[in-house]
This record gives sequence, structure tokens and C-alpha cells, in this order.
Amino acid sequence: MSHFTVILLELSDLSSFTAFTDLNLVGILTDMSLAGSDTSANTANFAIRYLVQNPKVQTRMQQEIDQVLGNDRWFTLEDKPK
Ligand code: HEM
Repeated sequence: MSHFTVILLELSDLSSFTAFTDLNLVGILTDMSLAGSDTSANTANFAIRYLVQNPKVQTRMQQEIDQVLGNDRWFTLEDKPK
């Protein structure tokens, strides 16, 4: 699998695609970094605080994770509907 940044760098090297500049590349990466860090941190912060204040919900969530995943594997997108 190619890394997102590598694909963008290859795109910026294609002479036939001159509309994509280094400045565009920096803009996209800055955008992703700013849009992705605060939102993810706040979501994780909210979820952890909520679970700490609601131990019954925390127990139910743990049971659901144990039931779907068991103990020997990490989750994948295929687990989403389960
Ligand atoms: C729990 C985490 C996140 C939440 C709650 C969140 C929330 C949002 C919301 C509400 C929007 C506006 C959508 C709209 O008005 O159309 C948005 C847009 C966007 N988000 Fe997130 N986001 C999260 C994680 C991320 C991450 C990890 C990235 C990048 C790595 C990211 C990149 C972006 C970008 C680039 C846009 C603009 C999309 C566009 O203009 O079409 N976000 N996000």
C-alpha cells in the first residue's frame, strides 16, 4: 500500500499535471494535520471522560468488544456492522 504523502509527491512530479504545486501539497498536509488532530483528541477526551463517569456503559462496551473481537485480534473495518 502506498503512503498518502508519497502519492501526493508523485502527483506533484508529473509534468503533465502542472496544476498541482508544492504549495498545494503543503496546503493539503497542513489542512489534514490541523483538521485531524484537535477533532480526534477532543473525541477521545470526550469518550474517556464519559466512560469514566458512566461505569455501567463502560462495562457494556467492554462486553461488546470482548464478544465481537475476543482477546486475540485487533479490530478491522469489517467489524463495524457487528
Ligand atoms: C473524530 C474526529 C473528527 C471529527 C469529529 C471531524 C469532524 C469534521 C467535520 C464536522 C467536518 C465538516 C464537514 C462538512 O461540513 O462538510 C470535517 C471536515 C474535514 N475533516 Fe474532519 N473530523 C475528524 C477527524 C478528521 C481527521 C483525522 C482528518 C484528517 C486526517 C480530518 C480532515 C478533515 C478535512 C480535510 C475536512 C474538510 C473536508 C471538506 O472540506 O470536504 N478530519 N471534519
